[in-house]
Amino acid sequence: MSLSAQKPVPLDQTQYDFDEIIERRGTNSLKFDFALERGQPEGLLPLWVADMDFRAPKPVLDRLVEVAKHGIFGYTEAKSDYYEAVAGWFDRRHGYRPEPKWLKMAPGVVFALAMAIRALTEKGDGVLIQSPVYYPFTGCALDNDRLPIRTQLVLNNGRYEIDFDDFEKKMVDHKIKLFLLCNPHNPVGRVWTRAELLTMGQLCLKHGCLVFADEIHADFIFPGYRHEVFAALDPALADISIVATAPSKTFNLAGLQNANLFIKNPVLYKTLSQEIRRSGYSQLNAMGLAAGQTAYEQGENWLDQLLVYLKGNLDYARDFFQKRLSPLKLIEPEGTYLLWFDGRELGLTAEGLNRLMIDKAQLWLDDGTIFGPGGAGFQRLNFACPRQTLKEALERLALALT
Ligand SMILES: Cc1ncc(COP(=O)(O)O)c(C=O)c1O
Repeated sequence: MSLSAQKPVPLDQTQYDFDEIIERRGTNSLKFDFALERGQPEGLLPLWVADMDFRAPKPVLDRLVEVAKHGIFGYTEAKSDYYEAVAGWFDRRHGYRPEPKWLKMAPGVVFALAMAIRALTEKGDGVLIQSPVYYPFTGCALDNDRLPIRTQLVLNNGRYEIDFDDFEKKMVDHKIKLFLLCNPHNPVGRVWTRAELLTMGQLCLKHGCLVFADEIHADFIFPGYRHEVFAALDPALADISIVATAPSKTFNLAGLQNANLFIKNPVLYKTLSQEIRRSGYSQLNAMGLAAGQTAYEQGENWLDQLLVYLKGNLDYARDFFQKRLSPLKLIEPEGTYLLWFDGRELGLTAEGLNRLMIDKAQLWLDDGTIFGPGGAGFQRLNFACPRQTLKEALERLALALT
């Protein structure tokens, strides 16, 4: 039995059933099995942490069985066929073909983010973030004795925008050396436009600031929007950036811990690589590598069907919010499978809103306050679940509002 990737790559013609409700309790699932440990009561319907309640693509499952049957899980590294698979995916899906020498593997995007903060800034330095934002951006800065410097996203007619004057002012005032970009943006769901990215990029160039572009949600883009890889916008921006991506979010493989960094600038590549080496991390998770490669080679059919399903979930939720959940307001996501909604018109405190979700609606969502300033009065709901689960969650929410 050869365990190398099969060539030519067989076409996956599976018809996927995302309506299937798969029991996740009892699998050490962070989302389902850790309510008590995370300070929540038992019995809540969990729609919090960003993984999906769907099985990974069939070719990935087949490949993992094949690797498991081989039965030896020794030290493992990526060969050129992995690089080809990654480059092919980004080329086909995003019109961007990273060269093999730009690719650096990491056990996760958050790990890479922490390494970048350590490698590219000094203790006491500020790190620029756009608040509200995925909370490890703040956590990684604080845990490494850096200051999270926040520029506030501005909610204008239901859509978040960047205050570029404030962005630049914060950058200058705090002598920022590193900006943490989240695109698509978790939790507010924006897919930053080419113009917005170029403006941010120009400001970074002007003030000598490097960019860590967390693009882990890049494959979840709704019709009408387009993901722009930051490093693809301009060679000058490729030169100052690290682009972080992973098959974990796209194909629901987070537990297999495998992420890709694209770093064109050789000095930046070397600096980050040294920091990663200093951390003690070296070889890859064998199952993660096999799964990631197969997903990039054969996961397209699955993802295309999934995107249609997620759009259906979003349409359902939007309609439900309009008809049954007033005065809650859904912020239209342009990308991600995360729904950020505004509960401020209920007139509760942030804690009151959170208690409403937990005690009355019996839902485990992500409280907006954890995403930093601008998050109070909001909640984040993960809609990458079977429609039936989403319906149940929204019905609970409707009942809680009566
Ligand atoms: C924006 C963003 N970055 C990174 C991650 C996590 O990445 P990893 O599991 O590779 O550390 C998440 C997960 O929710 C995320 O939303």
